[in-house]
Amino acid sequence: MSKLKTSFFCQNCGTSYSKWQGQCHACKSWNTIVEEIVQKEDKKTWSTSASKAVSKPVIIKEIDAAEEHRLDTFDQELNRVLGGGLVPGCLTLLGGEPGIGKSTLLLQIALKLPYKILYVSGEESEKQIKLRADRISYKNDNCFILTENKTQNIFKHIEDLQPEILIIDSIQTLQTDYIESSAGSVSQIRECTSELIKFAKETNTPVFLIGHITKDGSIAGPKILEHMVDTVLQFEGDRNHVYRILRAHKNRFGSTAEIGIYEMLSNGLREVSNPSEILLSASDEDLSGTAIATTIEGIRPLLVEIQALVSTAVYGTPQRSTTGYPAKRLNMILAVLEKRAGFKLGAKDVFLNITGGIQIEDPAIDLAVVAAILSSNEDLALPKKICFAGEVGLTGEIRPVSKIEQRISEAEKLGFEKIYVSKHIKLSKNNFGIKIIQVGKIEDLASELLR
Ligand code: TYD
Ligand code: MG
Repeated sequence: MSKLKTSFFCQNCGTSYSKWQGQCHACKSWNTIVEEIVQKEDKKTWSTSASKAVSKPVIIKEIDAAEEHRLDTFDQELNRVLGGGLVPGCLTLLGGEPGIGKSTLLLQIALKLPYKILYVSGEESEKQIKLRADRISYKNDNCFILTENKTQNIFKHIEDLQPEILIIDSIQTLQTDYIESSAGSVSQIRECTSELIKFAKETNTPVFLIGHITKDGSIAGPKILEHMVDTVLQFEGDRNHVYRILRAHKNRFGSTAEIGIYEMLSNGLREVSNPSEILLSASDEDLSGTAIATTIEGIRPLLVEIQALVSTAVYGTPQRSTTGYPAKRLNMILAVLEKRAGFKLGAKDVFLNITGGIQIEDPAIDLAVVAAILSSNEDLALPKKICFAGEVGLTGEIRPVSKIEQRISEAEKLGFEKIYVSKHIKLSKNNFGIKIIQVGKIEDLASELLR
C-alpha cells in the first residue's frame, strides 16, 4: 500500500506547510496548524467539453459590457442585497450562526422560484427538509432535494437533472474523493469550493453555499474561501429577536452597503419592506430616555429608536453598556456632555440600547443618543413626534451628516413634526412638511429640549 501523503494546513488562513510549527507565518495565529491527509490523483471532477477550451486574450474594448442579465430571486430583500438579482455563474456564500435561519431562507427562495433547483443537504434528512418546507407552505414542482455529501455523486446527479440553480447546505459537510481529510477541514473546503466554482463558471449556473461561522463570527474554514466566491452574505440577528438582517460583506456585482431585513415567523421568513415601522416601538406612553434617530443603510433611510437609562451607580465604578452602538463612542459622548454641557455623568451608570437588535455604525445617530441620555438623566420624556440627525464632535459641535434630505423626507413620510439637525447643513429645497430645527452645539440642544 502506498504511503499516505499528508500536509500541514493553517485552519485560519489555509497556508500549507511541509512540517508542523506552532505559529502560522502568514496570519501569525498560534496553534492553528493541523496535519491533513492529501491524496492527489488524476482528477475526475466537473468536466464538460467547454473545460477543454483554452481562453485567449481579447482587446478590452471588444469585450461586450452590456448589462449582465440577472435572475430575479422573487425576494426583494435578497435582490437588493445582491445588487439587483442573481448573476449567472456566480457563487454566493451565506454565513451565519447556527439556528439563525440560513437553511430556511434558501429553502424558501428555492420554493418560490420558477426555475429548476437542486437543494443539496449534507446536514439534514429529506424528511427534515420536507417538514421545514411544510412550515413555509410554498408548493413547487421544480425544487429537488438531494441528501448527499460527496461532490462526485452530486455532480453525477447534476448531469442528469440539469438544475438552473444549485444550493449547497453546507460547504463544511462536503467531501471530495480526491482528498482524504475529513469533511470541514481546510483542504476539503478549498477543494470542494474550487470544484463548485468550476461547475458554476462553465455552466453559468448560480450556486449558493451555506457556510458555518466560528465563535468569533468569521466564516469557518480558510479565509481564501471568501476570496474564492463572488459574494459573501452574512445572515445576522439576535436569536431572541425575530428580526434578521442580511448583509453583503463582499459583492463582485454590486454594493456592500445594502441590507435586507426579515422577520422570522412560524411559517418562514417575511420580507420587511418598511423597516422603520418595526424599529420604532409602538408604545403610546410618554417615557423618558427614548429618542428617534434617522439612519441610512445602503440607499434606504431607516428610523430607529434609541433607549438610554441613566441611573446613580451602585458600585464604585459606574457601568457603561451598549447594545447596537459602539461602546467607545458612548464613552466619548458622555465625556463631551460632561465637559461641554456640564452634565455630571461621571458617577452614573449609563445603558444604551438600539431597539430591534440592529447594529448601527452611522455617526448620524449621535444626536439622538445625546437626546436619549439627557432625557433619561433629567427624567423628562421628549415629545413623541420629534427625531434627530447629526454627528457629535469632540468640541460639542453638531456636525452635518450625509444624505440629510433623504433622512428629512423619511421622517416627514412617517409623520414626524420636528427634526433636529446641524446648523451647517445645506438644503436644496426648503418646502419640507416637517419643521427643521438647526442646532450648532449640544448645549443649545440641551437647553432647547429641557426647557
Ligand atoms: P434554520 O434555517 O434551521 O437555521 P440554520 O440553517 O441557520 O442553522 O432555522 C432554524 C430556526 O428557525 C429554528 O430555531 C426554528 C426557526 N423557524 C421558525 O421560527 N419558523 C419557520 O418557519 C422555520 C422553518 C424555522
Ligand atoms: Mg441549517
